[in-house]
Amino acid sequence: MDRPLLQIVIASTRPGRIGLPIAEWVAERARSHEGFEVELVDLAEVDLPLFDEPHHPRLGRYEHDYTKAWSATVSRADAFVFVMPEYNHGFNAAIKNALDFLYTEWNHKPAGLVSYGGVAGGTRAVALLKPVLSALQMVPVVQAVPIPFAMRQVVDGRFEATEPLEQGADAMFGALATMVDALAPLRTGTGTSHQPPPTSVL
Ligand SMILES: Cc1cc2nc3c(=O)[nH]c(=O)nc-3n(C[C@H](O)[C@H](O)[C@H](O)COP(=O)(O)O)c2cc1C
Repeated sequence: MDRPLLQIVIASTRPGRIGLPIAEWVAERARSHEGFEVELVDLAEVDLPLFDEPHHPRLGRYEHDYTKAWSATVSRADAFVFVMPEYNHGFNAAIKNALDFLYTEWNHKPAGLVSYGGVAGGTRAVALLKPVLSALQMVPVVQAVPIPFAMRQVVDGRFEATEPLEQGADAMFGALATMVDALAPLRTGTGTSHQPPPTSVL
């Protein structure tokens, strides 16, 4: 059987962002885990405008080619790791915008959260993102990887991980793999109810 596809999403779109080297480390570590096919998805390259679809994404009636392309990208993933900065004690705008563009493409897929910033390691941003993921029927795994003062670990454009971070990332990949299996009946409609869970009125 094919290995599940894990997308590592680079949330920061800022020129000079440290999100890029951190995500490259996450991807390298995920590849060595061997449980997944791994793909880097860079929101700076995806380059979505501010959400401008006329219909609710749950209808899938997309008018713009960039939305259709984004839908195709997210559809092929089985799990995600969001590599996300903390901006003003919250998540950055680009990640929320990219999430808002789609709906069913995210449903019943697990998410790992690698966050970074100053002393709080991006944990305030993670706390605020979790209800958003929940609204999209995603499942954030408990095994998150917060990185305090991450900028100090970026040397010559490479992120230098410590052993606790490597162990934390491995625990996150393990939890994601378990959750991909656990959520499979919801995604394929093969659960005991044979019914997808109802979409809430939002
Ligand atoms: C607009 C803005 C707001 C920020 N707010 C916070 C914050 O609330 N907490 C924090 O820990 N770091 C904050 N920072 C520092 C960022 O965590 C740090 O600049 C980090 O490198 C940003 O990620 P990026 O380089 O991948 O864009 C902020 C940075 C920016 C640009």
